Amino acid sequence: MLRTHTCGELNMQFTGQFVTLCGWIQRIREMGGMTFIDLRDRYGITQLVFNLQVQPDLFAKVKELGREFVISAKGRVAERSSKNTKIPTGDIEILVDSLEILNASKIPPFTIEDNTDGGEELRMKYRYLDLRRTVVRTNIELRHRMAILTRNYMNEQGFIEIETPVLIKSTPEGARDFVVPSRMNPGQFYALPQSPQTFKQLLMVAGFDRYFQVVKCFRDEDLRADRQPEFSQIDCEMSFVTQEDILNTFEGLAKYLFAQVKGIDTGDFPRIGYDEAMREYGSDKPDIRFGMKLVELNATVKNRGFKVFDDAELVAGINATGCCEYSRKQIDELTDWVKRPQVGASGLVYIRYGTDGTLKSSVDKFYSADDLKAIAAQFSAAPGDLILILAGKMEKTQNALGTLRLEMGKRLGLIDPKVFKPLWVVNFPLLEWDEDSKRFYAKHHPFTSPVPQDIPLLDTDPGSVRANAYDLVINGVEIGGGSIRIHNRDLQKKMFQVLGFTDELAQEQFGFLMNAFEYGAPPHGGIAFGFDRWCTIFGGGESIRDFMAFPKNNSGRDVMIDTPSSISEEQLKELNIKLTS
Ligand code: AMO
Repeated sequence: MLRTHTCGELNMQFTGQFVTLCGWIQRIREMGGMTFIDLRDRYGITQLVFNLQVQPDLFAKVKELGREFVISAKGRVAERSSKNTKIPTGDIEILVDSLEILNASKIPPFTIEDNTDGGEELRMKYRYLDLRRTVVRTNIELRHRMAILTRNYMNEQGFIEIETPVLIKSTPEGARDFVVPSRMNPGQFYALPQSPQTFKQLLMVAGFDRYFQVVKCFRDEDLRADRQPEFSQIDCEMSFVTQEDILNTFEGLAKYLFAQVKGIDTGDFPRIGYDEAMREYGSDKPDIRFGMKLVELNATVKNRGFKVFDDAELVAGINATGCCEYSRKQIDELTDWVKRPQVGASGLVYIRYGTDGTLKSSVDKFYSADDLKAIAAQFSAAPGDLILILAGKMEKTQNALGTLRLEMGKRLGLIDPKVFKPLWVVNFPLLEWDEDSKRFYAKHHPFTSPVPQDIPLLDTDPGSVRANAYDLVINGVEIGGGSIRIHNRDLQKKMFQVLGFTDELAQEQFGFLMNAFEYGAPPHGGIAFGFDRWCTIFGGGESIRDFMAFPKNNSGRDVMIDTPSSISEEQLKELNIKLTS
């Protein structure tokens, strides 16, 4: 080894010892005849001291040094006269007596410190430098720890990790596929897996019984803070189980990770139905760290001549406690905010509950003081509160109110970032109607089993069929989702019919799965967790990008390696691809 110790481990116990450290120069300070260098490696920072009066022979070399040079320094560990209590090595320094420059460095394009001066784009371009920063490095280390703990836990539970292929045929999960042209089969393409869904089901048919994999998945969809085109799942499948077994098994994994990584005993996770989640939180991934539940007002406010409410499928609101002093300007701003396309409300009605007990609304023309009192009572509102009401189509209004609830929770400081509230959302609808294409889509995916007693409804009222599907939600983030699968060929065929597949198309795309179901498919089910999201939530981050070593930007580009990029004429020809523009 070129070093005897790392830059993070030396302390007072080592004083007097001769050591050799290697690392990158974070900072150089000159004071009188002394030069101080902060030397950094993955483990920490140690102060090196060069006393150039005592060692004039080092003078020339020290003058050559610059930020991010890689050096090796040999010297004696000594107690520092002015200690730094902020770092573990802050009590000591190394009195260097020999120095080797292992490699020089250009001046880095941004400072490699926690509070860097580098913007996002620049840091992505030089990601290998960004990864040297402690804040980024610790995220990657957390990710490693989560992966190891997951593998250990799953192994203990009898799951085996099996790799599934990356060059596959498309599996519909709702997003677009990334495709790869096949040179040996001109005009034909592989698809990169959106998830290993069909393969893990085939592994159950094969009798593997308990499978998992920490696996890369690829989805060509619009990117956001919690979405990347390639991301990782902890993908799992089990045979001979009910939904209850799956929830218990994976609640076990989640509790284990909470305990090991966060030192938190979460207790049992609450379970709430999809309908209840939408009704009370306006979201199928509710953040239950705070209350401010939605209250439906249909029965109280309709048929009073206020057309907006009369025509609405849903009139509902939230109580912004303590906000009655909101100025006209603030309310106008909030109204504009809910009207933004991302929220999608058509307007905002408010009721101010003055500290003097008077109630005043933006629709006083239609509602008496007693009416307002009755509405306020429904919210258990008190003097000082501000009730915010939206109206319109059911789901749209629920979603808009859910978004407003989160915004008000943030503005009022009701969301504690240190608190973790996991829960299961269950009883999802099996299907979702799409008005544009006038057809049903699978809410989870087409392999999800309907609740058995709802199967007859597939013929009469498909929209009301419930699924044996579930999501794990932590602090308003969908961390994982899964379902009990269909394992019967006829039912799978029926499902494809309901989704508008012709028999030929179903056979062409999923014949392999339906055929497998004819050779003894066991009852099975599973789940997949968004590994990047889980790490981000545990690490207290805002974007999953910060927990991936080499992420893509919001346009799906890797600006460091500069891809996607064009390929040569020769390659195109070999692949039998002609570009039209
Ligand atoms: P689903 O599509 O719900 O289920 O995905 C499972 C979990 O993966 C995460 N996730 C993502 N993370 C980052 N970037 C993305 N683009 C992205 N898309 C999804 C989410 C999500 O909850 N095969 C099924 C699972 C099953 O039924 O077992 C599936 O993939 O955290």
